[in-house]
Amino acid sequence: MGNILEVKNVSKYFGDFTAVKDVDFVVEEGGFFSILGSSGCGKTTLLRMIAGFQHESEGDILIRGKSMKGIPPEKRPVNIVFQTLALFPMMNVYENVAFGLQRKKMSKPEIEALVNEMLSRVGLNGFETKNVTELSGGQRQRVAIARSLVMKPEILLLDEPLGALDRKLREHMKVELKLLQKEIGTTFIYITHDQSEALVMSDKIAVMHQGVFEQIATPRDLYRNPKTAFVAGFVGDSNRFEITQSNAEQLITEGGWKINKAHEGAKLLFIRPEALILNPSKGGENIETFSVTIKTILFDGSNTKLSTTVDDSSSGEELLISLPQNAEFENLKEGDSILVGIHKDDLKSY
Ligand SMILES: Nc1ncnc2c1ncn2[C@@H]1O[C@H](COP(=O)(O)OP(=O)(O)OP(=O)(O)O)[C@@H](O)[C@H]1O
Ligand SMILES: [Mg+2]
Repeated sequence: MGNILEVKNVSKYFGDFTAVKDVDFVVEEGGFFSILGSSGCGKTTLLRMIAGFQHESEGDILIRGKSMKGIPPEKRPVNIVFQTLALFPMMNVYENVAFGLQRKKMSKPEIEALVNEMLSRVGLNGFETKNVTELSGGQRQRVAIARSLVMKPEILLLDEPLGALDRKLREHMKVELKLLQKEIGTTFIYITHDQSEALVMSDKIAVMHQGVFEQIATPRDLYRNPKTAFVAGFVGDSNRFEITQSNAEQLITEGGWKINKAHEGAKLLFIRPEALILNPSKGGENIETFSVTIKTILFDGSNTKLSTTVDDSSSGEELLISLPQNAEFENLKEGDSILVGIHKDDLKSY
């Protein structure tokens, strides 16, 4: 399948402020593409340009190879789900979903068939006559998505659609959304500041920072090989060390291995908590071992971590280590010293 969307070197200026800078990417047909970034980085501005609500200052946006310049929002084969959902509060579920089709002057039976099909896809049949104000947050969410999807857009743009939901419901909805997208096959462009949402749902993720795309990659690749220090710090948990002249050789020195040799000139070092191996059986060639002392155990179910300090380091920096769910480590306690291993490839420096 080809690329349904091409965004070519797009920039957006508001006066002398640059909201989006030289963003360049393609989205494959049928893909789930996420744009991940913190508040104010330019996500909504970019989405609004794709939808046609805002004009790019530079660059071009193509859908199925056709430039969208001069094409108004209603003529673009896209639909947008807003964070605020923007449902019509005076209408019931059926009327909300049918609204766009009625404006297209479709016949009543046609509309009925399409609305009913869509409501059953999002698990809302039986809710037709309920007013949207009577629904839960997750149900309203599904009405908003059904209302957009019923228009059969080629691309569905979603602007932080789960932002207003509580954590538990968000966890649930992100799985549902991913399944729904797979089932209907519509291309989704999803913006979020929540890295877990992006990692779980996407085929591809773009990490955006201050108007710029820092990296575009699959979730796995983004997590394993962050290209910039920003991505390494933003996606997933990491131990982050600032490397200075005086601590460079001390951060982790056991085994005669010096951090500054492999990472010459680097200023920052990132190590994922789960990359640290407790009691490594035999240090292979690329595994370095050193001992740490446990300061506290941060119990969080399957996500429990040890807060430790490296024994041989005078810098005393904290090192967080994931605790595997394993009987071997059940009796670890504060003050214990334990051997830790790290694969050289799991040290990321910038
Ligand atoms: N119409 C406008 N005029 C001037 N500045 C704007 C305009 N729209 C957006 N901006 C600025 O552009 C920047 C990016 O805004 P945008 O809404 O795209 O961010 P965002 O990534 O969607 O943030 P959030 O996650 O908070 O929704 C912000 O600094 C914002 O103040
Ligand atoms: Mg926004």
